[in-house]
Amino acid sequence: MTELAILGGTGLTSLHNMEIVRREVVHTPYGEPSGALTYGNLCGNEVVFLARHGYGHTIPPHMVNYRANLWALKNAGIKQIISICAVGGIHSDIGPQSLVIPDQVVDYTWSRHHTFFEKDLTHVTHIDFTEPYCEEMRTALVAGAASAGIDILQGGTYGATQGPRLESSAEIDRMERDGCDMVGMSGMPEVALAKELGLCYAACAVCANRAAGRGDGLIDIGKIKTTLEESMTKVRLLLEHTISSVCR
Ligand code: HPA
Repeated sequence: MTELAILGGTGLTSLHNMEIVRREVVHTPYGEPSGALTYGNLCGNEVVFLARHGYGHTIPPHMVNYRANLWALKNAGIKQIISICAVGGIHSDIGPQSLVIPDQVVDYTWSRHHTFFEKDLTHVTHIDFTEPYCEEMRTALVAGAASAGIDILQGGTYGATQGPRLESSAEIDRMERDGCDMVGMSGMPEVALAKELGLCYAACAVCANRAAGRGDGLIDIGKIKTTLEESMTKVRLLLEHTISSVCR
């Protein structure tokens, strides 16, 4: 049975190298996921793929139904998730096309559904979030990168903003003071919800641009798309190598 899922972010709405077996539309108590679950084979390993922003990339980060996506994956028997997400680089080491495996998160999002614990409150409603990401999957991604010969930055703090607008340079200054190394819009509440469901979840952040005030002049929005597209060859290779070791 497939236990591994890939949650594709901006730039990764499909896996070209995945042999699709079937698609399953899932309805959840939390509403509709971003799309059908796509079951397939990636280098001989069974995986499920879900495009976080929809297969036509029509759902912006603040409108994603994170609970429905994760509930649908859990319900399908998924135990491990590799999430791909676009970020802006705050730390000087994180430039366009860098890949980073974050190990911490700071949440600046608001008005999203941040928990599954809303109804049946007879159960525990607190999770330990000291280590937001699954260490086992982070290690697998780092090993996958080494095996593929891809440079990857290990560790870093992901700051999750509400979007859909990008940040002001003062907001990025504040985030840097808070210890954030990168900024993205879809990392939270996804990580926390995955933890509430007991899923082993790690992310690969793909740098699309230098964050506001960290590059030369204004952010070129058009360039974000092309940089992400160009980075996806590396991401696909990373996934192939990581999945072969995780599924072994
Ligand atoms: N800010 C927030 N999210 C992002 C950015 C950014 O600069 N780049 C890609 N996703």
